[in-house]
Amino acid sequence: MKLRRGWAAAQARPWNDQTVELASLRLERGGDRFIGACVGWLAERGVKRVLSPAMPDDQSSVWRRAGFENHLELVVYEKDLRQPPPPPLHRVAADPSPDPAALAVIDDRAFDPTWRIGKAGLVDAMAATPTSAVLTVRVDGVVAGFAIVGEMAAVSYLQRLAVDPDHARRGIGRSLVRASVDWARRHGARTMVLNTQPENLAAARLYEDEGFVRLGARLRVLAKEGA
Ligand SMILES: CC(C)(COP(=O)(O)OP(=O)(O)OC[C@H]1O[C@@H](n2cnc3c(N)ncnc32)[C@H](O)[C@@H]1OP(=O)(O)O)[C@@H](O)C(=O)NCCC(=O)NCCS
Repeated sequence: MKLRRGWAAAQARPWNDQTVELASLRLERGGDRFIGACVGWLAERGVKRVLSPAMPDDQSSVWRRAGFENHLELVVYEKDLRQPPPPPLHRVAADPSPDPAALAVIDDRAFDPTWRIGKAGLVDAMAATPTSAVLTVRVDGVVAGFAIVGEMAAVSYLQRLAVDPDHARRGIGRSLVRASVDWARRHGARTMVLNTQPENLAAARLYEDEGFVRLGARLRVLAKEGA
């Protein structure tokens, strides 16, 4: 949902599909007072807590001025894409018409409640870059895991990676990472960046094994309680 006041604009959506009490707010233009007004408007509609996008500390001042505080932390990984990846272990296909509701079912099953982003979050992830793709691995014709990968200005972003727990540990995640790297290289990216939760050991092992290096930088999601 778009929120506007004069020149200022923001997008709000539910944080995930499980609760209407948490909202995600993305600022397009505007300052701390506009952010505060958005929080107030959402609070009047039953939102108890508003969360910012993940961002580096040096971009958080406008949110902090609006009363937002540290809430969640993410670590950042990067991979140089000069070398081609090894072939995926599974057949990975780009989905020409991805169904966010179907992907959200897998996302909800794969992620802990805090990190689920729901249909609207997945749509945002697909739209975050001018070029993007949803890559899937199917088992018996049914999607068992997916990756959302995007590219902008020669930098690629692994926006989302989820494997249905029923199909865990069979190399599907690894295949999706390799296919994402291949997609990004074919779209002119020189590097791939992603973020994940600091405590996500499975993801850390997978990414490091596939040649990603953990950067010192951290991203934070900030939050403010609705009034
Ligand atoms: C992380 C995730 C994508 C891995 O998918 P997967 O298909 O089960 O992983 P793979 O079978 O390809 O495993 C590749 C490697 O990752 C690591 N790994 C995967 N699951 C692991 C686990 N539960 N514990 C420890 N290491 C694990 C291992 O190094 C593994 O290699 P190995 O099996 O040869 O030891 C999946 O667990 C998932 O969807 N998790 C929830 C969502 C998530 O964390 N997404 C990514 C971060 S934002």
